[in-house]
Amino acid sequence: MPSPRVFITGIAGFAGSHLAELCVAKGDSVSGTLLPGTSARNLNAVRSEIEVITVDMLDRKALAGALRRAKPTWVIHLAAATSVGASFTDPEATIRNNVISSLNLLEAIRQDRTLMRSVEKVVMLASNEVYGRVRPSMIPVDENTPLRPVNPYGASKAAVDLIAHSYHASFGLPIVRVRASNHAGPRQATGFVVPDFCHAIAQLEHQKGRRVIKVGDLSARRDFSDVRDIVRGYRLLALKGRPGTIYHLGSGRARAIRSVLHTLLKLATCPIDVITDPKKLRPVEVPILRADISRARHDVGYQPAIPWNKTLFDTLEYWRERRRR
Ligand code: GDD
Repeated sequence: MPSPRVFITGIAGFAGSHLAELCVAKGDSVSGTLLPGTSARNLNAVRSEIEVITVDMLDRKALAGALRRAKPTWVIHLAAATSVGASFTDPEATIRNNVISSLNLLEAIRQDRTLMRSVEKVVMLASNEVYGRVRPSMIPVDENTPLRPVNPYGASKAAVDLIAHSYHASFGLPIVRVRASNHAGPRQATGFVVPDFCHAIAQLEHQKGRRVIKVGDLSARRDFSDVRDIVRGYRLLALKGRPGTIYHLGSGRARAIRSVLHTLLKLATCPIDVITDPKKLRPVEVPILRADISRARHDVGYQPAIPWNKTLFDTLEYWRERRRR
């Protein structure tokens, strides 16, 4: 079988860059989109082995041209506004970016006969934020749990998920829908809890006097995975996922944010006090998310492998290293 041609939207992003490295290591031919004006630094390790196309996905014509030139076998759509926190500040930007870029991608494929023939799988990313505040009796969520997002980000991803469903049902696009849980690791930007904590600790380790970390809600619980496991899941779903099917990727267990902070504070080289910053509390909080991942396990053999403590250690090291540079 010839090696797949993988087209990754948001290729220089947090998950995109890890996926690009994995695909290169597997021998795939890799290309992907980079938002104009953003950095490709995350791709340093594979830059000479991949094709990076600078294109704004809100520009459908330009995106269609890029796709036509790439003639992909697999399209893995990761480009998105991914911060729940930012979606409260600018809901319109989150919704517009996520919905229109996804629509443009699917339309670009649907309207081109060659692409309709060459594309064997489209992996469309949603999130378990689509479920919102789930009753404890409904935990773990499975792929049939009703969509009741409570924040603009979750709503944007629910819309993307349903649009993807309709493009499969109406036009036969070979779409696999993924609702991913939280993932962390090196290269994730601040604005998410693990990099927020690691970035602060890496700074405080070099500060004199009383050291204080400001945090949001520590009681929330999330289903955390290592990004390197999650991108392995994306590739497995491109390879073996059944079109028309929804898959969860996650760890299958819930961790309190308080325990994430506790582990990181133990790794810190100095004592650090914790205070709650009211500005970091959300207008609405999702108290717990935990995903049933048995379908991905059964259908494509997905199994998380990287211990959570390693994820936290590697991420803290990444922020220490960034501070040095
Ligand atoms: N960002 C952040 N910063 N969150 C904090 C902090 C802090 O200093 N302190 C506590 N939290 C809490 C948040 O209130 C939330 O309950 C939890 O930590 C996780 O927040 P985020 O890391 O911002 O992630 P998220 O769960 O809202 O969303 C992430 O996971 C989704 C999948 O469940 C994102 O990665 C989404 O893109 C993803 O779809």
